[in-house]
Amino acid sequence: MTSPGSPDPHGVHPAWLPDEAFRPIGSRRTLLRGGGPLAGTVHEEVARACARYGGSVRRQAGGRHDGDGDGGADGGGPYDLVLALTAAGDEGSGEVGIGEECYVVSRRDGVTVVLADSAAGLLYGLFHVVRLGEEAFGAERPAEHHRPAARLRMLDHWDNVAVHPVMGQVERGYAGGSIFWCDGAPRDDLTRVGAYGRLLAACGVNAVAVNNVNVHAAETHLLTDRLGDVAAIADRLRPYGVRVHLSVNFAAPLALGGTATADPLDEDVRAWWAAVTTRVYEAIPDFGGYVVKADSEGQPGPHAYGRDHADGANLLAGALAPFGGVVHWRAFVYDHRQDWRDRSTDRARAAYDHFAPLDGRFRDNVILQVKHGPIDFQVREPVSPVIAAIPRTRVALELQVTQEYTGQQRHVCYLAPMWSEVLGFRPWGPAGPWVADIVADDVGGGGLVGVSNAGDDPYWTGHPLAQANLYAFGRLAWAPSSDPAAILDEWIGLTFPPSAGGSGGNDAAGGDDGRLREALHEIMDDSCGTYERYTAPLGVGFMVRPGHHYGPDVDGYEYTPWGTYHFADRDGVGVDRTRATGTGFTGQYPPPWSEVYESLARCPDELLLFFHHVPYGHVLHDGSTVIQHIYDTRFAGVEEVDRARLRWAELAGLVPAALHARVRELLAEQLRCAEEWRDQVNAYFLRKSGVPDSRGRRIP
Ligand code: GCU
Repeated sequence: MTSPGSPDPHGVHPAWLPDEAFRPIGSRRTLLRGGGPLAGTVHEEVARACARYGGSVRRQAGGRHDGDGDGGADGGGPYDLVLALTAAGDEGSGEVGIGEECYVVSRRDGVTVVLADSAAGLLYGLFHVVRLGEEAFGAERPAEHHRPAARLRMLDHWDNVAVHPVMGQVERGYAGGSIFWCDGAPRDDLTRVGAYGRLLAACGVNAVAVNNVNVHAAETHLLTDRLGDVAAIADRLRPYGVRVHLSVNFAAPLALGGTATADPLDEDVRAWWAAVTTRVYEAIPDFGGYVVKADSEGQPGPHAYGRDHADGANLLAGALAPFGGVVHWRAFVYDHRQDWRDRSTDRARAAYDHFAPLDGRFRDNVILQVKHGPIDFQVREPVSPVIAAIPRTRVALELQVTQEYTGQQRHVCYLAPMWSEVLGFRPWGPAGPWVADIVADDVGGGGLVGVSNAGDDPYWTGHPLAQANLYAFGRLAWAPSSDPAAILDEWIGLTFPPSAGGSGGNDAAGGDDGRLREALHEIMDDSCGTYERYTAPLGVGFMVRPGHHYGPDVDGYEYTPWGTYHFADRDGVGVDRTRATGTGFTGQYPPPWSEVYESLARCPDELLLFFHHVPYGHVLHDGSTVIQHIYDTRFAGVEEVDRARLRWAELAGLVPAALHARVRELLAEQLRCAEEWRDQVNAYFLRKSGVPDSRGRRIP
């Protein structure tokens, strides 16, 4: 068992866990009651803070707390903070208590008490107290019960072990190299992995897939002869309650020479997976399970053998079931070799067409992992209809924290408002459940999965402000109805504690601290809206440069096999996905959305071009025409970026100088790129339509 070790690897930004965040705890007297490795982590955290800020911590490994919040008068107190496991945590105690990973926090008679049944709950409770800061030790607070909405709160790393000739060390990674792998091998020093686990625990994430969903040759071996590499990572993450999952190659038995086929119904194949999985659990007893991208973008899958996705997923689920593991089977399956002339094929339909008919066929440890939109992580897409189409299948929502299509961590784009909209979408209308209810359901839910944006960059995420996306992903996975602005506020408070700036003295709400907070909200709260305003309009998406996907190229994908078209001509633009005259995609939604999206009059403006092909003169609900909307919003988006840039410049001295400089440079690049977007999109549509800007602005 590896101990957590130093939380701050040299030269690495502490993100939302700077030492200062621990001052309120570190300067007080804490009693910790509870044994086991994760309670050990809690102890180390508190002890380290106390060593720095002069407080004290006493640990009673065996003792159990009676929940009376007496400040531990029986334990040599008095104490300011009591962190204690309840008797329900004792194996076989039979007590029904607070719940796995849950905690109850209260304050009475000058003592703050965190109770949990499991040490994981205690760890989450500790980080709750860190978030509260001084407030945790202020007014009395009635007992508040905290439980994670979703049991699985997972980050997928698209990290390659061997550097891929096109995709590099991290596919769609914008934060340097991988924290796990370097040039074909695991990193010599995995300290940073431990620090990552700590950050994840502090925002609520409890699972990590350590390699890319595109599993290439070297990565295929992680399952067998290179399993030790995975176990070493698991050892570093375990002290923070984070379990490891592995992306596997569906054809691994064949590729590794174990069998003559990878047919999921073949007995040898079944035996191979069972044996291999047994060895995985021998090496990593708390292993989480497999992630699979099959029959998608060239990855092998069951189709080669005339089998379907249920056959494929159930094969792996069968091997994992005896150990309690799960398979995350990705629903991102479509024809990436489409003929662009073929108007009958609609990529948006693909996931539903593949998976809806299979509902009810998956074993209960299969989780279908569904991207939030039907296409591919565009800044504006409708919610995937698959989520409502498979009531008898566990479903996980996949979000892209890494900013492949949202500015690649060179642009400020705070994604939580977009995720929150997705989580709050009600597929069956106002009386039905939210997406969050479906994916977080205790029995039928598969939780939330985010594609991580972290790498070996000193700020973890390339753009220092992109840390907020990683933080917000965890917080939304824990509590999907949280307000994105409140999450951002929490992140600001933790990441930029009063002493972090250059000039000091920024503690009063109206002082430097308040100025910084206000400016960051101005820059970040609606930055995703800003990004949407200067890029592809009204939900049509994919006007990016093919391949790397950064910057504009309006027709870049128009005549390609990828199925991502906008169909602009001299008269109009957009994809007709109606049942009446188009691809019929609207029919994949239950009412009322099947009707709302079908109707030109009722379709929300922001999704208009996703569902309809309209003339440039089509009038939107706000009274503007489509063409004028395109011009206006592109100009507005650029102006917003410029305002953010000027606002940031005012913060010199309020944040560390190096961080300030990095964000300043990135904002300059964002402005350049936004102008490029504005000019290309506007020029393109002016030339196509011949309709001038009603305000006579310059369009090149
Ligand atoms: C996107 C991305 C790929 C990735 C794929 C996936 O298409 O560009 O790099 O592999 O999504 O989610 O599997």
